[in-house]
Amino acid sequence: MYTQSFNVPDAPGGKTVPLAPSTEDPALQAAFDARIDADGRIEPQDWMPEAYRRTLVRQISQHAHSEIVGMLPEGNWISRAPSLKRKAILIAKVQDEGGHGLYLYSAAETLGTSRDQMLEGLHSGRAKYSSIFNYPTLTWADVGVIGWLVDGAAIMNQIPLCRCSYGPYARAMVRVCKEESFHQRQGYEALLVMMQGTAEQKAMVQDAVNRWWWKCLAMFGPPDADSPNSAQGMRWGIKRISNDDLRQKFVDATVPQAKVLGVTLPDPDLKWNEERQHHDYGQIDWNEFWETVNGNGPCNKERLATRVKAYNDGEWVRDAALAHARKQQQRKMKEAA
Ligand SMILES: [Fe+2]
Ligand SMILES: [Fe+2]
Repeated sequence: MYTQSFNVPDAPGGKTVPLAPSTEDPALQAAFDARIDADGRIEPQDWMPEAYRRTLVRQISQHAHSEIVGMLPEGNWISRAPSLKRKAILIAKVQDEGGHGLYLYSAAETLGTSRDQMLEGLHSGRAKYSSIFNYPTLTWADVGVIGWLVDGAAIMNQIPLCRCSYGPYARAMVRVCKEESFHQRQGYEALLVMMQGTAEQKAMVQDAVNRWWWKCLAMFGPPDADSPNSAQGMRWGIKRISNDDLRQKFVDATVPQAKVLGVTLPDPDLKWNEERQHHDYGQIDWNEFWETVNGNGPCNKERLATRVKAYNDGEWVRDAALAHARKQQQRKMKEAA
């Protein structure tokens, strides 16, 4: 499986970050810390510090929102896929993303936050989701590039989450990563086929790579130096590898794939550094990243409006399901009486 090669040991020093000052019960806190230090799992019924719970709810719900908003840019291409085979693959992939959202909402619900609360956060614009989905998919090549690079970056991020200290999140990630592996491969394969096609097809792939490359590097989040919450996440065993280390792994894995494909990654500073045994790469435009995170990307409003409309349009389904459940319950009670 594509993802297995990325399963690497934790970053050195992750556990040496000092503990955040705690106002919790010292005995409970000590037992929790000992479990984390021993690389044990925390389960829903276990005691946990409020800050740990809050961090997980925020992270898992953001992840869930990213999955379901991520259905939209590619969903736009289902009706325009170039063949029956590509259409079937794309439908399966977009459905997988919906499933990922459902596993993750369920995982977050075990922390005591309801799905309605989480969706309210998304619909009101308070909750964030991955800003990569606020860019448009202009051509069919974008669908391939999203599979190759966006799902590829997601895998890089998610493989270490399979070992997250919170049990339900870690277990959800195992299945998610298997499906992400398929997403990455189908995208790369679609691009390989296009790169054997006409000059126009090759140019379309290169154009899509040019538009998505830098945005994918930004997906790993701000540089470690500007990411103060990362250290706490690593101390808690939620985050296992830092943003910059994940980004570096992604660049190193992607360069040879680009060569096989025959595309150029749009970075004049991208080159192998013999001393570091890694690729050097250029400056990411963090202003653009923050603008998009803060709601001013090209598709933020459209994505949110589409989600809100889908939720409102589905109200009758939720109402009908609840009415049916109530009726079943009443029937059962009558039979029991
Ligand atoms: Fe996904
Ligand atoms: Fe995916």
